[in-house]
Amino acid sequence: MARSALLNVMVQAATKAGRSLARDLGEVQNLQVSLKGPGDYVTQADRKAEDIIFTELSRARPGYGFLMEERGEVAGEDGQHRWIVDPLDGTTNFLHGLPIFAISIALERQGQIVAAVVLNPAMDELYTAERGGGAFLNDRRMRVAARTKLSDCVIGTGTPHLGRGHHGHYLVEMRNVMGETAGIRRLGSAALDLCYVACGRMDGFWEEPLAPWDMAAGMLLIREAGGFLSDKSGGQDMFGTGQIVAGNETIHRALLKTLKKPISE
Ligand code: IPD
Ligand code: CA
Ligand code: CA
Repeated sequence: MARSALLNVMVQAATKAGRSLARDLGEVQNLQVSLKGPGDYVTQADRKAEDIIFTELSRARPGYGFLMEERGEVAGEDGQHRWIVDPLDGTTNFLHGLPIFAISIALERQGQIVAAVVLNPAMDELYTAERGGGAFLNDRRMRVAARTKLSDCVIGTGTPHLGRGHHGHYLVEMRNVMGETAGIRRLGSAALDLCYVACGRMDGFWEEPLAPWDMAAGMLLIREAGGFLSDKSGGQDMFGTGQIVAGNETIHRALLKTLKKPISE
């Protein structure tokens, strides 16, 4: 498949970091059985992947700014462009040797996401999109699933955990969604969850709170695959609110409605 120069740059950076993470996953799996566990090793793996991506993208597009999970905001001279990067999304999975994790790279131009790459190196799955050019899984064009009845749908989510999120409020939402759908999945990588909506493996997704680097690439992938997304009030302030609700047009609307319901029993 012929890719644009821009996507090539992004894919190259992701692939290089992906090779590093895939190597480190092997060591993490060995360290599981050690008393100390792989915690420090994973922190190193995460940083190494971020350094690789930062170096590659800075070299290919000098002057572009960055928003990265570890480095935070790095202003660029260019002022128009910003890379939004999560070098390892699904850290908890990675730490446990679960091969559901990804590198997520998005390019924002004047506040609009124009290109996206998500790579799961353990499964060799590469998701790419450019604004107006469609979305692809490896070389195959992606479309969101066509199901229109919530009762047939598998919906992804992110559950809050120790020290994170509003547990009581989430339980109400989960109860509403589980009562109306074929099932809920919690896979542990928001970037991949959004890719799975884009390629129709899941029919919808919701989570809060997420950071821009968790969702920037996935948002474009879903839009380019014909999907819809918003914050929980139906607006487009996903970065500001940290909320995301996604699906095809019908399921997105139905999910928004279901999430808002008070508990009926
Ligand atoms: C996390 C994953 C997870 C989501 C969390 C994120 P990280 O990112 O995307 O699925 O539920 O909210 O923070 O920490 O693995 O990069
Ligand atoms: Ca991360
Ligand atoms: Ca993340």
